[in-house]
This record gives sequence, C-alpha cells and structure tokens, in this order.
Amino acid sequence: MSKYRPVPLKGYVTRDGAQMQRRAANFYRSIKTRRTVRMFSKRPVPQGVIEKCVLSAATAPSGAHMQPWHFVVVSAPAVKRRIRLAAEKEEREFYRKRAPKAWLKALAPLGTDAEKPYLETAPYLIVVFQRGYDVDAAGERIKHYYVSESVGIACGILLTALHHAGLATLTHTPSPMGFLRTLLGRPANERAAMIVVAGYPAKGAKVPNIERHPLADIATFVG
Ligand SMILES: Cc1cc2nc3c(=O)[nH]c(=O)nc-3n(C[C@H](O)[C@H](O)[C@H](O)COP(=O)(O)O)c2cc1C
Repeated sequence: MSKYRPVPLKGYVTRDGAQMQRRAANFYRSIKTRRTVRMFSKRPVPQGVIEKCVLSAATAPSGAHMQPWHFVVVSAPAVKRRIRLAAEKEEREFYRKRAPKAWLKALAPLGTDAEKPYLETAPYLIVVFQRGYDVDAAGERIKHYYVSESVGIACGILLTALHHAGLATLTHTPSPMGFLRTLLGRPANERAAMIVVAGYPAKGAKVPNIERHPLADIATFVG
C-alpha cells in the first residue's frame, strides 16, 4: 500500500511558449553571473536568508525520497576558525604531497592554494553532509539510494538559491573531508560532501577569467 496518499498537484502554473522563453532567458541572464568567489566580506547576513536557502535545497528530488542530507550552518567564529585550521592542514598535505601532478596542473590556472582565509571571513559555512543510511527506532538500517546524485542536486539548488538571494558562494571541498564529521559532531552514517561558503563578496573581489562552453559543445538535440 502506498505510504504517500496521492493529492492534487499544487502550485503548478501553466505558461505559454512565449512566457516560458522569457522566463528561461531571464533565469539564464541571472544564473550566468554566478561565480565562485574566493574573497569574502565580513558583512553580516541575516540567518533567515540562509534558512530559506537551505529549505530550497531540501526541495531537491532524492532517490526513493530518502532526503539523504544534513546541512550544518556554521557562523560561530571559533568553529569557523577550527574548520579553517583543519582544512588548511589537509590542503597543505594535498598541495605538497597527496595531489597527483595532473590534478595540480588542472588547478594551476585557477590560482588556488592551501590558504583558506575565507573560511573565517565569510559569515556562513554551510557544511553539507550526505547520509548513507538512516537507522529506525528498532535500530534497523534504512538504506538510501542515489545518495551522491541526490545531494549533488540539493547542493546545486542551494548554490542557486544563495545566488538568487544576492549572496556570493564558494564550493569548497578540502581533500580529504573526514575531519568535518568529527569537528561538527555528526553521526557515523554521515559524510561531508562539501562546504558552501556564503556571504557578500569583498570590495574589489576578483575571479578567474574563465569561459563556459557554448551550447553546441555541451548539448545534442535528437529530434
Ligand atoms: C564539486 C566541486 C568542488 C570544488 N572544490 C573547490 C575547492 O575546494 N576550492 C576552490 O577554490 N574551488 C572549488 N570549486 C570551484 C571550481 O573551481 C569552480 O566552480 C570552477 O573553477 C568554475 O568557476 P565558477 O564557479 O566561477 O563558474 C569546486 C567546484 C565544485 C563543483
């Protein structure tokens, strides 16, 4: 028997072709200005903004509707500092020893290094955890499906929502990220997927002059 009783589709708005064209173009005009920012301002951001963006992220579809995510929103300076120190320790090892040459070569044009001051400067670090499984009241494991895909979609919506609200973001994946579970006291069934750094960009913030592939290179239309 279905656990979820079917209910009428709510909130869907039918739009004609012209309206859709306009809306799609407007959305593209906005989202193409999203950039990964690595220079943040200390200027505070109301927590309510972050709360709505996390709620938006959690509207993501997920394999068998398991919602296999948890968002730890860190604004406490002492915790941000501990995350920075632990991330820089891992990143120093990564850049000096662990990273394969090809990976370093791919990163070189972006000019990134082991120093992560933004982990302290930005008002929020949203640490996204993926939950490999849940445990029910009887102690039985509830398996999750397509966890990485589901959490990846949630992270995409989170970045989009933060951008839409007017915030700059950085997707940060210190390598490895195991320290985040211990540092933030998360349970054994969770693994950090990424840190989404969010805040205002610093005055005069600069970004790498990258280009994106044109439509003809990234899409094939069959029909
Ligand atoms: C999964 C993932 C991990 C990333 N990890 C890092 C990171 O650890 N540090 C960093 O500076 N940028 C990181 N980035 C940002 C990319 O370098 C950036 O998205 C890319 O250069 C394109 O730039 P744009 O986001 O401004 O379009 C990551 C992006 C993704 C999607």
